[in-house]
This record gives sequence, structure tokens and C-alpha cells, in this order.
Amino acid sequence: MVVDSPARPRLVGEDVEVPLVDGSSRRYVNMDYAASSPTLVEVAQAVQGFMPYYSSVHRGAGFKSQVSTAVYEGARAAVHAFFRARRDDAVIFTRNTTDSINLLAESLAPGTSVVAFATEHHANLLPWQKGRHHVTYLPPPASADEALARLEDHLRQAPTDLVAVTGASNVTGELWPVAKLAGLAHANGARILLDAAQLAPHYPVSVTDLDVDYLAVSGHKLYAPYGAGVLLGRPDWLAQSDPYMRGGGAVDFVTTTEVLWTSLPDRQEAGSPNVVGAAALGKALEVLQRYGMERVAEEELALAEYARGQLGRVPGVDVYRLWDAGAPRIGVLPFNVHGYSYGQVAAVLSAEYGIGVRHGCFCAHPLMVHVLQVDSSDIVQIRASFRQGTRPKVPGAVRASLGLGTTKEDVDYFVASVSNLVAHGPRWRYVEDPRTGESSPQPDPRPWPSLGLTTNRERSSAAESS
Ligand SMILES: Cc1ncc(COP(=O)(O)O)c(C=O)c1O
Repeated sequence: MVVDSPARPRLVGEDVEVPLVDGSSRRYVNMDYAASSPTLVEVAQAVQGFMPYYSSVHRGAGFKSQVSTAVYEGARAAVHAFFRARRDDAVIFTRNTTDSINLLAESLAPGTSVVAFATEHHANLLPWQKGRHHVTYLPPPASADEALARLEDHLRQAPTDLVAVTGASNVTGELWPVAKLAGLAHANGARILLDAAQLAPHYPVSVTDLDVDYLAVSGHKLYAPYGAGVLLGRPDWLAQSDPYMRGGGAVDFVTTTEVLWTSLPDRQEAGSPNVVGAAALGKALEVLQRYGMERVAEEELALAEYARGQLGRVPGVDVYRLWDAGAPRIGVLPFNVHGYSYGQVAAVLSAEYGIGVRHGCFCAHPLMVHVLQVDSSDIVQIRASFRQGTRPKVPGAVRASLGLGTTKEDVDYFVASVSNLVAHGPRWRYVEDPRTGESSPQPDPRPWPSLGLTTNRERSSAAESS
């Protein structure tokens, strides 16, 4: 019997044409999946189908409320299944990974000791600095083995309650040895949080197999950009602490002098939840599961390797990495082009080639200054300038990132566009805004799409002409 493998899930907007500054247009090439991914077609369709039934959840007796509640709780079950969570793990819907990690940080007992590598995204660096915890940052390791050795050393010397680690770097793409880090944490009496914001969209993640205690993800990176995220994990700390947010839905009973907080998950989901966001995320995970995350990983990692090789061969382009070239990575490629600022490169790729990339420091300043080998005297200077209110030039890079919709043709076009810039320079004039450091084409004749939504540009030009 021949079993057809499922077709690659389609994304909304895959064929959208965008205008270029020369008056032509071309299919948009999205190289910015690491920031936010497009919606899966099936997710958008499911959301549209659900909207006529959308209503309040939980204590609504109305038919639509009951349907909405069932959809919301079904999404919770889909998250639990997708990440192969333990039976009693809590699934809390949040806004995004940042919200999830802040929720966990707020749930920790005062005095909890946390360790994280300085290479983390700010979402997994800053919540631990809130003063109630004792946080140690380990310096950037030169390899996965060094990461393990550094963590082991630290855990042996300093009693630790929580290790907070990313699964895949949003700057350089390396896959961190999560299962081994979890083994070390547990052998030394600590728990571990996996920031799976970048890992989960590109690689299979099983909470049970990796043996991580907590996991944080964002729906908008998982092809469901409707505003929901998740904190998943062991229920005890989350159930013992006061709610992260106080308000309706999180209580059993309230008087003016006392509040009896309810149990999980409601305890940590005060206020009206994002039912549509949760439903969309649940649907996206079902679609990804059906296609198979092993397959996603196999296809994307091979394409990422190809892209890195091709981009690395362009003269005058530096491609950065944290670990050696053989380390497995998701499709995240940070680079700079000699002679151009990262803002200029991003502006040229957009305005002349219709390519979307990200540029700057990617919310990981300590990692970026390490990768770019920024001098400590320069860092002192940058900090001083910010304090004085003058915007310094901050070192950074351009980041191209791949996802479910990226094709080899996209990669080839992107690399050819960078090569063209190197060989021939920009074909348009660009001006840098000294306040923001952003470059933009001057003039910029690209027409905007008509969306049925009023943009801030339309509002300000209406205000100017009135
Ligand atoms: C590794 C990592 N962690 C956390 C975050 C924060 O995600 P969000 O902005 O969705 O909260 C990001 C976002 O880029 C990320 O890449």
C-alpha cells in the first residue's frame, strides 16, 4: 500500500506581491520567520469558521459560550499533546514567551536562585533580575560541551533552583543540548525552563523526552499570530504562588478583606482570555503535528545549511556564529556586509528586492556584543551616550531566518540580492534617521496596499490636510 505523505502546510500571503522603489513589484520573500511567522492557511480558515460562534468562555450557559469554552479547552489539550507534556503539567495561556517567562519568574518563591547563560534573549534574561531572585549569568560558551561543563561547574558550587535556557538561539541559530542540560539540572536538584520560542517552530519538542520542567512558546512564531503564548510545566510552583495578574476568573471567593485564589490553570489566567489566539495556536499545532515536526526539522535544517554555505561564499559578507561551523542550527543567519550599516542592508533588500529581514541586536545585547567582539570601551561609550540622551550607533547585524514557507528559490534569490548589493551597490538613495538609526529610501514611491484598516500614515496625512 502506498501511503501519501501529507502536503507541506500552506501559509497565508505566500504569493503576495510587494512594490519595489523602481516601480515594479515582485513576490515578497520572507526571511524573517524568527521574528514572527505568517499564519497557516488552515489556521486562518479555522478562525474564520469559529468567529460566528465566538463568545465568552467558562461560566456562560449560552450555546456559543459553551462552544467557545470547548474550543478554548480543546486548544489547551492540543498544546499538551503537541509538546508531549506529563499528565499533570499545567498549560497556561499567556500573551507570548516574554509573558510566560515573566509569569514563571513571578511564581518563584523569594530568594530562588536562577542560572542562565548570557547568550539568552532578553525575555529569558531580564525577568530573573527583578530583585526577588538571585540570578547568575554564565559567560557565552564556545561549544555545546563547554555549555554543559560551565553549567555543571556552577551547579556544583552554587545551590540552584532553576536553570533557564533557550532551545535554539534567535541570533545564531545553534541548537542547545537541552536534554543534557536538563540531566545536569536535575542531578543537582534544580529545575529547568526551556525557552522554546525559536526551537518549537522548527524542531520536535517533547517535554517528556527532554525532561524539562517548564516550556515557554509564542503563537506568533508558531504560525498562529493571534496573540497567544503558553507556559507549560510543573503545576506546584504555579499553584502555590499568588497569581501573576490579579482579577476576575482567578478566584474562588472574594470579600473586601480576603481573596481565595482558585486552582490552575484559571489561577494564572486572570481576566478574559484570548480565546481566538488560543484556538489558533491549538489548530496550528495540530497542523504541524500532522505534517510532522521531524520532517519540518529535516527539511529546514538542510535548507539552512545550504543558505549559510551560499551566503558565506559572498565576498565582503561576514556570517556570524557562536559555535563551530558543524554545530546543528536552525535557519537563523546573522550577517553584515562590508561598507554598509545593517540598517542600510535591510532597507536595500526591502526596497529594491522585496525581501524582509530583521536588523539590529535581536533583543540579545550581551550575545551580540560577544559575537561581534565589541570592545568593552565601546560598550562603556554606548551606555554613556544613551544615559546622556544621545543615540549612539549600536553595533548589530542583519538576520535572515527561514521557516515553513522558505524554498531553495527564495534562498538563491536572497543570496543573489546580497551579492548584487556587494558587487554594484544600492540603486537608490537612502537616508539614515539620526534619531532611530533606521535607513529609508528617499524618495519612497512604493504604494501601500488598501487593507480596510486605517494606518497611522493615513491618519496623519488626513490630519495634515484637514
Ligand atoms: C529565543 C527567544 N526567546 C524569547 C523571545 C520572546 O518572544 P516574544 O516576543 O514572542 O515574547 C524570542 C523572540 O524573538 C526569542 O527568539
